[in-house]
Amino acid sequence: MAFKIKTLTEYRDSYQKSIQQPEAFWAEIAENFQWKKKWDKVLEWDFTKPEVKWFQGAKLNITENCLDRHLETRGDKTAIIWEPNDPNEAAVHLTYKQLHEQVSQFANVLKNNGVAKGDRVCIYLPMVPELAIAVLACARIGAVHSVVFAGFSSVALASRIKDAQCKILLTSDGSFRGNKTIELKTIADEALKETPSIETAIILKRTGGAVTMQDGRDKWWHEELEKVDNNCPAEEMDAEDMLFILYTSGSTGKPKGMVHTCGGYMVYTAYTFQNVFQYEEDDIYWCTADIGWITGHSYIVYGPLAQGATTVMFEGIPTYPDAGRFWEVVEKYKVTQFYTAPTAIRALEKFPLEVVEKHDLSSIKVLGTVGEPINEEAWHWYDKHIGHGKAPIVDTWWQTETGGIMISSLAGVTPQKPTFATLPLPGIQPVLLDDEGAPVTGSPAQGKLAIQFPWPSIARTIYGDHQRYKDTYFSAFTNKYFTGDGALRDEKGFYRITGRVDDVIIVSGHNLGTAPIENVINQHDAVVESAIVGFPHDIKGNALYAYIILHEGVDGNDALRKEINDLIAKNIGPIAKCDKIQFVPSLPKTRSGKIMRRILRKVAADELDNLGDISTLLNPEVVSAIIKHRV
Ligand code: WTA
Repeated sequence: MAFKIKTLTEYRDSYQKSIQQPEAFWAEIAENFQWKKKWDKVLEWDFTKPEVKWFQGAKLNITENCLDRHLETRGDKTAIIWEPNDPNEAAVHLTYKQLHEQVSQFANVLKNNGVAKGDRVCIYLPMVPELAIAVLACARIGAVHSVVFAGFSSVALASRIKDAQCKILLTSDGSFRGNKTIELKTIADEALKETPSIETAIILKRTGGAVTMQDGRDKWWHEELEKVDNNCPAEEMDAEDMLFILYTSGSTGKPKGMVHTCGGYMVYTAYTFQNVFQYEEDDIYWCTADIGWITGHSYIVYGPLAQGATTVMFEGIPTYPDAGRFWEVVEKYKVTQFYTAPTAIRALEKFPLEVVEKHDLSSIKVLGTVGEPINEEAWHWYDKHIGHGKAPIVDTWWQTETGGIMISSLAGVTPQKPTFATLPLPGIQPVLLDDEGAPVTGSPAQGKLAIQFPWPSIARTIYGDHQRYKDTYFSAFTNKYFTGDGALRDEKGFYRITGRVDDVIIVSGHNLGTAPIENVINQHDAVVESAIVGFPHDIKGNALYAYIILHEGVDGNDALRKEINDLIAKNIGPIAKCDKIQFVPSLPKTRSGKIMRRILRKVAADELDNLGDISTLLNPEVVSAIIKHRV
């Protein structure tokens, strides 16, 4: 690949050029893709509006870059290896030719069901090949996909469908997760009661469980496929046309539908995939994320396929049928790049080493992590027992909003340092800022992490709410994109992400806003008010601690705790359940009525000797009561 960086010097040269001549730099990289028409202008931007446009005037279809252009040279190469939940079920290998045919055919199913360019399609599917096929089929015809993680509840699904006014829902009868079966269709039915915009639901048969099909609305996937052929020309898209919406939690109210567009997203995900993972033609790359999250969008589907890679999709969980499943799959397919989350590493390192050692992991060349800061211990375990000290680890920092990896080493090319994401990728201009927004210079330095120049895959807006996009990302600091993360920078300029500085808590690598969970808790009849904070957890990184005020006379017992967690699971999903729930007489508040979360965090973390000044609180006496009854 023409844009592969192979040495540290090449990295430094690329970085320099990307800063000094960003337009020339990205134009040269963009030359490596198939455009129906080239751009008139590489970049136009204004962070005060905010508005960012890359490759204006260019025409393309991302699926031609992910599929068609490989057919001649890689037609029989495996594009997707699908490993099912049950190791005894047959795996699926799809060549580029087969994937191209199946995407085209399903694209025709969408068209046949009235889906046109610009329509929103909600995809609520487990990790089966049809999920990747559906995503690409939308892109093929210019429909906007909105994938909702299949672990979300019916309420969460409904709110996302409503927000994007989706026309069609793609789901399955059920899904397999370890030894559990989840009735996705039943959950979807619940959601569809509230979503008049949905005209059609197409149901994939996966578990064979009983479902109720609603006449006129619900159709079987396999029956729909029979009605169409597999010839579907790719829709011509403008570089700035919407490719997809993906929801991420915010620190307030409803989730934010981040909007990504076609041209810049394609260029940046492909470029970063190639360089960070140092992918080579015969490599077998495996990212364990779910396509319901941005990591799956960018680094299971689009980035790898744009580069003609072989990408593994895994339906199951790391501990089924036993805690060696990841390593079994690595051995089975001779995986060369393995990309996972720190929370998975921490969970797996708790098991006896034999679980790892009985598998041949010698194929591994590169290891990666994403989603949250990795702790020293997990880093060394990963390095020693999975990489055998020979596989570079790329600690990739990025966000749903950034579309692609922003700060990371390039495997084996640029230096690594345990727990540090290290250096910005070419094109990325990070800055550390103090609370007043002044740049923190020198080293080592610590501050809030912002980015001061656009990159091709930055989210362009929040669907239907540009003001919120501006308020959330571009208002804290003038002319800069604010990440919501804190970071430190060492003498060599290496960055270490220290965690969120806002009210988002990362639990097992999933972003959870405190406000939406508090809103759910407050819906319970027994509850007056609540506050959620994160506290350190061995495996999850952070877990949730809820402080809840109950109505007079209500008994705060375990049955109530369970009811509250069930309510959270129903409204958001099981991932948002609270590990600890403490019933409190009141919450520590400032004189302006703001909850002092800092104190609640300290109590939850058991850091009692350093509570800071509490004398300015409206109700300082509550603090000792809270400490006394902490759980
Ligand atoms: C956190 C996931 C430390 C960070 C791709 C960010 C990380 C949030 C790392 C985005 C990392 C992600 N080191 N923290 N390597 N990667 N994060 O939108 O707080 O699900 O803001 O995107 O995860 O999470 P999101």
